[in-house]
Amino acid sequence: MSSVNELTAAVSEILIDEDTLQGRIAELGAEIGDDYRGRDLLLVGVLKGAVFFMADLMRRIDIPCEVDFMAISSYGAGIDSSGVVRILKDLDMSIEGRNVLVVEDIIDSGLTLSYLLRNLEAREPASLEICALLTKPARREIDIHCRYTGFEIPNRFVIGYGLDFAERYRNLPFVGVLRDELAAQAEELA
Ligand code: IMP
Ligand code: MG
Repeated sequence: MSSVNELTAAVSEILIDEDTLQGRIAELGAEIGDDYRGRDLLLVGVLKGAVFFMADLMRRIDIPCEVDFMAISSYGAGIDSSGVVRILKDLDMSIEGRNVLVVEDIIDSGLTLSYLLRNLEAREPASLEICALLTKPARREIDIHCRYTGFEIPNRFVIGYGLDFAERYRNLPFVGVLRDELAAQAEELA
């Protein structure tokens, strides 16, 4: 089996192909550029999943902006978020008085982001909004206001374009559904 097949064999179905992803990201970038024109903008990416989205999104924003990253980790290696979050890497810069846009790969239960928002809010930014590439509304356990959303997806475990299963498959250029056999393993890890 070639290595390309080994990678794509984990996918049962392509949910969002490359062209569709890039088209929507261009729209989001244009909207963000318009909304923040004339204001200072700091994009805050959540490592590692958001790196791919951030890189493409930022190049579609036509105003000067800065980027910083945070790494957070929920306990456990499974697919269910516990909402218990550790900061593994904090921001390099202060966000006090700045317009902060948090860039996330996916909002699932919303627990991770809800913790992160409370943490960032305490640092007194001028504004704090969210841009998420994907959202699974059916899984939401906590209400989160997401200013910019790329795609609403059904309750399936997805991989690719930054999203991982046990740290793998982030390098798939599309968003695909993880095959059932592998998803079952993920349930056991949770
Ligand atoms: P939440 O706290 O339940 O909203 O979980 C958010 C985090 O869980 C995301 O940043 C992802 O790292 C991970 N996650 C949730 N759903 C998926 C998925 O379908 N595929 C890959 N990672 C996911
Ligand atoms: Mg993850």
